[in-house]
Amino acid sequence: MAATRQLGSSDVLGMGRTALVTGASRGIGTLIAREIAKEGGHVVLTGRSTADLQAVSSELAAAGADVSFVAADLTQPGSAERLAGTVERQRGRIDLLVNNAGGDPLREFHSMTIDENLRTLQLNLVAPVELSHAVLGGMLRRGRGHIVNISAMAGRASFPYTEVYAAAKDGVIGFTRVLRSDYRPRGVSASVLILGAIRGAGQGQRMLDESGMKASGFMVPAESVARAVVNAVQKDRAELVIMPGPGRLMRAIMDYFPGLGPAVNRATGANATMQEILQLRQPTAHAGA
Ligand SMILES: NC(=O)c1ccc[n+]([C@@H]2O[C@H](COP(=O)([O-])OP(=O)(O)OC[C@H]3O[C@@H](n4cnc5c(N)ncnc54)[C@H](OP(=O)(O)O)[C@@H]3O)[C@@H](O)[C@H]2O)c1
Repeated sequence: MAATRQLGSSDVLGMGRTALVTGASRGIGTLIAREIAKEGGHVVLTGRSTADLQAVSSELAAAGADVSFVAADLTQPGSAERLAGTVERQRGRIDLLVNNAGGDPLREFHSMTIDENLRTLQLNLVAPVELSHAVLGGMLRRGRGHIVNISAMAGRASFPYTEVYAAAKDGVIGFTRVLRSDYRPRGVSASVLILGAIRGAGQGQRMLDESGMKASGFMVPAESVARAVVNAVQKDRAELVIMPGPGRLMRAIMDYFPGLGPAVNRATGANATMQEILQLRQPTAHAGA
């Protein structure tokens, strides 16, 4: 047991510790922040919208959480480093970083400019790398820290209209694996959560609301993601797949049979649904396509 604690980073939650949660102004991140706050310790929320951060912060504080926020746009150059610096100055430390901010415009790859596509890469892959880099020095000095990255099944499942998002989220998995392997012996660990479709909060639920559709049985409640983040830290888990049923097996099967994802998307109607959503968002996009 003692050896595991030395290698891992189970001491990053609770009194005297500080967690930084990105994408905590709305969606799944608010639930992750709430779940981490339940362990005690201080939670710093971040996102772009000061008004949303203020609202979430007040709600969590009213429920007894020790919480503050710093607004930042993670697609802006230098923003990740400034954010980490601000939190470290204010709190003296960052013990846990949850790279949750992310998302996808869900528009056709070719119809977006290359800059729009690269912003998706910046938010979902480059920003987590930048923030991890910015917090790692302090974590290594203290000999303790944990970084949790939020990835997605999009690439594995060939989910429609997610080319760059899928590249970023798969990139995050490789990044986390090597980070974990290199720094765990020095007390800093890393975990990645690979999410399927999530209901109750976040972009998936918004898409359902937008289209008037109901959540399918394949969607997992957002609260499960929040609990999985704490579980990943406490048990120092390398990778968790958040899907109904045997998620890790599903992911392995999708890798073994790359044609399976597109077939499932056709059979389950995901392609048709995504086309409808695309048309709702950009009515002219399919004209003549
Ligand atoms: N929901 C799902 O079904 C699902 C499935 C697979 C993976 N995921 C992943 O889970 C994570 C959370 O997703 P979600 O569904 O909760 O998304 P969401 O509801 O759209 O929330 C995204 C969060 O990221 C922040 N954000 C967006 N752009 C930002 C920027 N440029 N700089 C800083 N913060 C920014 C947003 O805050 P502001 O707007 O205030 O900046 C918000 O707090 C993401 O990494 C997503 O890819 C979600």
